[in-house]
Amino acid sequence: MKILIIGTGYVGLVTGACLAEKNHQVACVDIDEKKIEKLNSGFCPIHEPGLPELLGKNLAVKKLSFSGTLQPAIKEAEIIFIAVGTPAKENGEADLSYAEKALEDIGRNLDHYAVIVNKSTVPVGTAKKARKILKRYYQGEFSIVSNPEFLRQGSAVKNFLMPDRIVIGADSSHSKKIMEKLYQDFDCPKVFTNLESAEMIKYASNAFLATKISFINEIAGVCEKVGADVKEVARGMGLDPRIGNKFLEAGLGYGGSCFPKDTRALYQMAGVNGYDFRILKAVIEVNNYQRKCLIEKIERAVGDVKDKTIGIWGLAFKPDTDDIRESAAIEVIQYLIGKRANIKVHDPAAMERAKAVLDGDIAYCDDPYEVARDTHAVVIITDWQHFKEIDKERLKKLLLEPNIIDGRNIYEVEEMKRLGFNYLSVGRSNN
Ligand code: UDX
Repeated sequence: MKILIIGTGYVGLVTGACLAEKNHQVACVDIDEKKIEKLNSGFCPIHEPGLPELLGKNLAVKKLSFSGTLQPAIKEAEIIFIAVGTPAKENGEADLSYAEKALEDIGRNLDHYAVIVNKSTVPVGTAKKARKILKRYYQGEFSIVSNPEFLRQGSAVKNFLMPDRIVIGADSSHSKKIMEKLYQDFDCPKVFTNLESAEMIKYASNAFLATKISFINEIAGVCEKVGADVKEVARGMGLDPRIGNKFLEAGLGYGGSCFPKDTRALYQMAGVNGYDFRILKAVIEVNNYQRKCLIEKIERAVGDVKDKTIGIWGLAFKPDTDDIRESAAIEVIQYLIGKRANIKVHDPAAMERAKAVLDGDIAYCDDPYEVARDTHAVVIITDWQHFKEIDKERLKKLLLEPNIIDGRNIYEVEEMKRLGFNYLSVGRSNN
């Protein structure tokens, strides 16, 4: 099928490359001309396993193209995806100005029936609003569909090509059929709903996963008080299939471009509609509290951090990505710099992005051992595999003081104790 995608951010790019891989003819459009130029020269602007290969391959066979304008691709487009950003405003509400601009552009250029699919996470009710906006600029026939994405950074290509489910909110049987055709080669349950339910499924899914994380973090808090070990507790809980073992890792809580934004947006949206979403409010509070707990542990280990050297392992909000949006690392480093600590950091992928947002005297190191050399404490923020496999004896020799503050519970408490570390982790017995 002939597909047009507006927005070459994370979602648009993965969607475009994967649909081209599934033999659709895909044109991607973005207002950022420089980005388009880079994409056309084969450069992949995000760190996402498998994506550069898909881009290169489908560009070469001309199933995928990038452009700064909707024309000429919109002339033949059967499906137009809107995959632009919906950043959060100050009050948590989603900012829809990019999506509205995309609709205006579509309306001004469209001259035939097409299905307009929203992929961006938008408040429930946006699809209906989209119809009204488009009608202002285009009087012909069209359909609106809500098709939320459930891509995880680091495995987005796999998530797209082998999804758990595809959710499609459609406003007519005709648009439903077109979407069925688009996804006919995808072997997974397809959930057809009305527009509002599809929009809600996305928020509800992310809010539920965030709740699971904050729940286990609350359990971790209690574990620290009563001498239980949250990793053992999570394992014991997770074997119950009704609970499941995923998203039960206690630690620094969730970051990234989705969970923090979507939990706030859902809370705000519920409030505006007269519903006080009490659980979600607590989920957000707990998530913020986890970062404060880590800072408290750093100070417990080294005392006043002023003029102390603190090593930070990990800047990305999770492993296998260079994304630092809402990463605990940023907040923790800013706090420590404010307290005049000396900071050394290492992250295998996210150092360049961090340099752009962090001010102050920070030593960016090539490897985790270099970070550890002559520091008063190493603080683990991101659970990169590389950190899990560290040579602990070597690490101990490099540190000025044997303090490891582990925000992701990547080591065994007993082993760390035996090796002589002062090891503070989350929700485990020695805290
Ligand atoms: C998430 C959703 O999983 C995805 O379906 C959605 O479309 C976009 O948002 P992503 O932001 O890539 O994906 O991250 P994810 O892997 O879900 O992790 C989110 C955060 O939760 C990370 O900061 C991670 O470290 C944290 N997390 C995850 C925990 O603290 N504990 C866990 O058990 C799991």
